[in-house]
Amino acid sequence: MKNILITGGAGFIGSHVVRLFVTKYPQYKIVNLDALTYAGNLENLKDIDHSANYFFEKINLLDPDKLNEVFKKYQITDVIHLAAESHVDRSIVSPLDFVYTNIIGTVNLLNTARHAWKDNYSQHLFYHISTDEVYGALGETGLFTESTPYHPNSPYSASKASSDHFVRAYAETYHMHTVVSNCSNNYGPFHFPEKLIPLFINNIINKKPLPVYGDGLYTRDWLFVKDHALAIDLIFHEGKPDETYNIGGFNEWRNIDLVKLLCKLMDEKLGREMGESEQLITYVKDRPGHDRRYAIDATKINKELGWKPTVTFEEGLSQTIDWYLSNTEWLNNITSGAYEKYYNLMYTNR
Ligand code: NAD
Ligand code: DAU
Repeated sequence: MKNILITGGAGFIGSHVVRLFVTKYPQYKIVNLDALTYAGNLENLKDIDHSANYFFEKINLLDPDKLNEVFKKYQITDVIHLAAESHVDRSIVSPLDFVYTNIIGTVNLLNTARHAWKDNYSQHLFYHISTDEVYGALGETGLFTESTPYHPNSPYSASKASSDHFVRAYAETYHMHTVVSNCSNNYGPFHFPEKLIPLFINNIINKKPLPVYGDGLYTRDWLFVKDHALAIDLIFHEGKPDETYNIGGFNEWRNIDLVKLLCKLMDEKLGREMGESEQLITYVKDRPGHDRRYAIDATKINKELGWKPTVTFEEGLSQTIDWYLSNTEWLNNITSGAYEKYYNLMYTNR
């Protein structure tokens, strides 16, 4: 019997993790703790929110009293920590938001768990979800392994690196059981349309320019979000305490090649003339400190836990586009109001 606190469950990846755990483990109590920032949306969970084993608490990680109350109320046994400020461009505009949530918020959560579990740390797990961006940028060759030194380049990745270090420090200092996984770029349903793939899908639908940063030759390693959720499930249950696991699909794409594939698939699905959407591609000013290339070596999780992606990129991308095309209400709800302000701030002066 486990009472698992999943933080950030109303966000993109968190909602997939919550859905997987609520449906796969009816014997567990799943408590979704989320502050519902601009990125948190309970609509992402409306198919499972009536489940008997699902509970939601609107709480900010910056409120330690509330965190304590939740631990007591549900007798929390384990944590899967996803809540974070997650967008690199926003971290360049407002770094402090990232310091507060990603660093101080994580330390608040660690402290709460440390006190709640002090009688027997070995019975409990604090699982911290991190990113490959902590390793910095790769050149033309090489892959990030679990022993690649940290070299974060953006305020976002620096804040995630810091939180990873705090998790390690709590394991060493207080002997809490922890595990960390560092994943590459995710894509899929419920992805907030500020990130490359959902932003471009939305812009293609609306025939708006596709703002490609710099020369478009930056490379990312893409993984379907449901495969990330399956990896999290496996690591949570079978990962070795105090270990780190890299998660990725050996699926590198240069941004411009990915955008052209997206345009082609969208033209087919929307019944537009082939090549029409590619004309929307607009090269814009580069992201400051833009990491050239990320690529994950996922050998360890494959060899030790038997994980590998289940969905090819072409299948995943096609499913993702179909999902956005049939969930226009979800997209329209998000892209009105505050999102519109953000979009104008980020893109009108580029
Ligand atoms: P997201 O931005 O979609 O969701 C983040 C969630 O956290 C939102 O629901 C938001 O309301 C909540 N949140 C933010 N600040 C909070 C606070 N102070 N207190 C409580 N809740 C708060 O993020 P995502 O893309 O789903 O990423 C989830 C995690 O996975 C993050 O830790 C991120 O660093 C990591 N990650 C993301 C990717 C990716 O490609 N998206 C890849 C690797 C790792
Ligand atoms: O690698 C994992 C990380 O992936 C996660 O930790 C982050 O939370 C997640 O946001 C993502 O970070 P990226 O910066 O790689 O993702 P983003 O979708 O913002 O950008 C992907 C690439 O596309 C990057 O090279 C920048 C480029 N880009 C992005 C946007 C939004 C553009 O060219 N134009 C755009 O408008």
